[in-house]
Amino acid sequence: MNKIENYLPEQYRETGKLPINHNYLSEQFADYPKILEKFAVLLKRGDYTLGEAVDQFEERIQKLTGAKHAIGVGSGTDAIMLSLIAADIGPGDEVITTPFTFFATIGAIATSGAKPVFVDAGYDYNIDVSKIEGAITSNTKAILPVHWGGCACKMDELMAIAKQRQLAVIEDSCHGILASYKGKPLGTFGLTGCFSMHPLKNLNVWGDGGYIITESDEMADKLRLLRNHGLMNRNEVAVWAYNSRLDTLQAIVANHLLDKIANITQSRIRNANLYDQLLGGIDQIIIPPRKEHIKQVYHIYVIRAENRDELQSFLMKQGIDAKVHYPLPMHLQPASSDYGYSKGDFPVAEELCDSVLSLPVHEFITEEQIQFVADAIRKFYNGS
Ligand SMILES: Cc1ncc(COP(=O)(O)O)c(C=O)c1O
Repeated sequence: MNKIENYLPEQYRETGKLPINHNYLSEQFADYPKILEKFAVLLKRGDYTLGEAVDQFEERIQKLTGAKHAIGVGSGTDAIMLSLIAADIGPGDEVITTPFTFFATIGAIATSGAKPVFVDAGYDYNIDVSKIEGAITSNTKAILPVHWGGCACKMDELMAIAKQRQLAVIEDSCHGILASYKGKPLGTFGLTGCFSMHPLKNLNVWGDGGYIITESDEMADKLRLLRNHGLMNRNEVAVWAYNSRLDTLQAIVANHLLDKIANITQSRIRNANLYDQLLGGIDQIIIPPRKEHIKQVYHIYVIRAENRDELQSFLMKQGIDAKVHYPLPMHLQPASSDYGYSKGDFPVAEELCDSVLSLPVHEFITEEQIQFVADAIRKFYNGS
C-alpha cells in the first residue's frame, strides 16, 4: 500500500480559492474573539475533560430536541459506533443500511464488529424502506437509516417494520439537526439519534465532535460509561471501553453556535428554496421530491444532473465549488470487498453516485450568488 498522506489540507487548498465556496468557516467564526474569551474562562476553571461546558451543551441539546438524554461524544462516527455497542450489537450481527451515505456510517457498523447489509436507496437519496423486509435475516439486529442532507427517511414505515421485526433503530442524523418528520425531530424516532459537529455540519466545531440523543435511561447510562473508559467513578471501571468524550473546548464552540443554529437553519432553507425555484425549469436537472411533512435542513443541497462531471468542471471554472457527495457507493468501496457485493446490486444508489451534485447552500451565500449559479447551470445546458 502507498504511504497514506494527510490529504485534507491539499483538498481545501485546491477549492479554497473559488469565490462561491462550500467552506464558509472564516466568515462563520469572524467573531472568534468571543469564543476565545470563553476559552479563557475555562483556562481559569481547569475542567478540560467533560466539565461545565459539556454539561451545558448536553442540557441545551436536550431542550432543543426534546430528548430525555443527550451525551456528547468525540465524533458523529463514534456516536453511531457507541450506540451500536450500547445496544449489544456486535460480531455475528447484521445491521441494515444504505449504500448511499458517507463512509462513517459503514465504518461505525464495521468497527462495532457487526456486518453492514445494504438495501438500495430511493430517489429521495434515502434508504428505500420498501426493500428493508427483503434484507432481514435471523442475524439482523438493527436498521440504521441515514437522513441524507438533513432530509428525513420515511420514518413511519421504517419504524413499523422495526417494531414488527423487533429490530433496534439507530438513526444516523449526522446531517439532521433541527430537521423533522411530521413535526418530530430527527434522531428521536430510534433507540438513539447520532449527530456530527464536524466543521462543515450545520452545527459545527473547530475539529471533531458529536452527540447522541436517546429516550432510554439504560442506553444513556451505558453510553456515558462507554465514552469515558467505562468509569463509574474515579477509581472503578464497569466495562472496558473507549475514550470518546466530547472535547470541552469543542463544547464551548458548540455552545456559542447553538445561539445561532435557528438562523443558520433558516438561511439554509431559504437558500435551498431559491435554488429549487431557479433550477426547477431546467430539463436536465432533477430536484428530489419535497414533502410538506418533512422539514429539511439542507446540510447539503443536492440535485441530479445530466452530464454531471462536465457540469461540475464547468461550474468550477466559473468559480463555483460544486461537489460530489459521493462518487462511489459503499458496497463498491475496496473496504466492502469481503461482503460479496458487485456493481449492479444497488442500481439506484449507483445512479445517484453517477449523477448527484451539491451546490453551496450555507448561510453566507447571497441571493445574487445563487442566481449566478443557476444562470451558469442554464448556460451550460443551453449555451446561453
Ligand atoms: C452521514 C454521515 N454519517 C456520519 C458522519 C460522521 O461524522 P463525524 O465526521 O463527526 O465522525 C458523517 C460526517 O461527516 C456523515 O456525513
